[in-house]
Amino acid sequence: MAQSRKIGVFGAGWVGLVTGACFAELGHEVIVRDVMPDRIDALRAGQAPFHEADLPEVLERNRDRIRYTLDADELADADVLFICVQTPPTYSGDADLSFVWSALDDLPRGESGRQVLVMKSTVPVGTGEKVRAALDGRGLTNVGYVSNPEFLAEGHAVHDFLNPDRIVIGAFADEDGAAVEALYGGIEAPVLRTDVASAEMIKLAANAFLMTRISFINEIANVCEAVGADVVEVAKGVGLDHRLGPHFLRAGIGYGGSCFPKDSLALKQLASNSGYHFHLLSAVIEVNELQKRRVVQKLQKHLGKLRGKKIALLGLAFKAGTDDMREAPSLVLASRLLAEGAEVRAWDPVARPGDLMKGAVLYDSVLEAVEGADAAVIVTEWDELRGLASKDVRDAMARPLILDGRNLLDPAETRAAGFAYEGIGRPSSPFEALPETAEPETRVQN
Ligand code: UGA
Repeated sequence: MAQSRKIGVFGAGWVGLVTGACFAELGHEVIVRDVMPDRIDALRAGQAPFHEADLPEVLERNRDRIRYTLDADELADADVLFICVQTPPTYSGDADLSFVWSALDDLPRGESGRQVLVMKSTVPVGTGEKVRAALDGRGLTNVGYVSNPEFLAEGHAVHDFLNPDRIVIGAFADEDGAAVEALYGGIEAPVLRTDVASAEMIKLAANAFLMTRISFINEIANVCEAVGADVVEVAKGVGLDHRLGPHFLRAGIGYGGSCFPKDSLALKQLASNSGYHFHLLSAVIEVNELQKRRVVQKLQKHLGKLRGKKIALLGLAFKAGTDDMREAPSLVLASRLLAEGAEVRAWDPVARPGDLMKGAVLYDSVLEAVEGADAAVIVTEWDELRGLASKDVRDAMARPLILDGRNLLDPAETRAAGFAYEGIGRPSSPFEALPETAEPETRVQN
């Protein structure tokens, strides 16, 4: 068990709340500050502002140890201050650090002893150096600086925080690194103590590597389609090699979310700003863009022109277990389909895209969404969609075509249930499977 410390958190977003909640769970006293009055009011009323497994329970269980405020001065007596604000991409692809700088402007001046400022937000390598210089310039030499990147994945962030693969701590001064390490007392995990720039790079490199695996398996999937192999089997066989491992080898319609797209651009930009062209990362990003659009070509292969065709998009969130729509492949898909003149009918158990998906109609149930549809596309791997190949769905659809963008269904079972099936990187049903369909005008290629 860690010795209880006072922890201040800047930002009541997803990272800030999970961080605050989990440190409270570890026995620390936490105060979370945000600039949005509505959010603070909601949190005080016991409402978590987004869908994240276990978060409401952990917040509730620790309500005596966690407070919320709009006033940064209330963080003045915190021993450690975590910066958990957003770092969105700017037009140039660089990370926008304005939220980080405004948190620094609001930094309370603690009366007593040393305070440690900890960067959880994902920032370009070199940010720590700049912040250190800014702190020194303001005479805040009693404030230490540590980079302690987060490796949380949405949907199981609380579990990831409390059961991490590793804790990375980059510090300028040993005592500051030790103070941050002590906060994690009670968690079993290797701790890597390193310099600030390397800690910053570890975060960007880890995400880039995960994205590389996804784009790699997606390209293997595209080759599988051309040569008649099944990428699910291929990934299984490849992943059994202990040097490669089974993770992040699920082929699909491309990665999305608040992290990967933003972080890949930030790393690419960081490299090119330093005079290095990161060829591999550029290819990873391009493959991902093409992968989202390939779905449209596949639909055209089966349905011919999409003008006037009804397409059901099932699942809208960028992955299952979250209501997050940021950079979700469904957004690109919906826009492309609407541009082709298709009618887009959408369903998701929790995500509500609102204006992000203007022109698409949202339905409350899968059955309503597939009513009269010429194709149903599985966009997000929600468990609710595992039973999609049912008689009810078959009867509701105008044409029984399932395009499984996540390889969620069993192709043979789906065909046996009377559907034409097209997955990602798996042998697909020939277009003749839909007798009423005209000879395709477009072949899938990219
Ligand atoms: C990701 C990382 O997994 C976290 O370690 C990291 O901390 C986080 O970004 C971040 O930088 O904050 P997250 O974006 O929540 O977490 O989601 P992932 O589970 O990694 O999935 C990202 C995208 O990749 C999703 O669209 C998912 O569908 C896709 N994906 C993932 C695949 O297409 N195939 C796979 O095999 C795995």
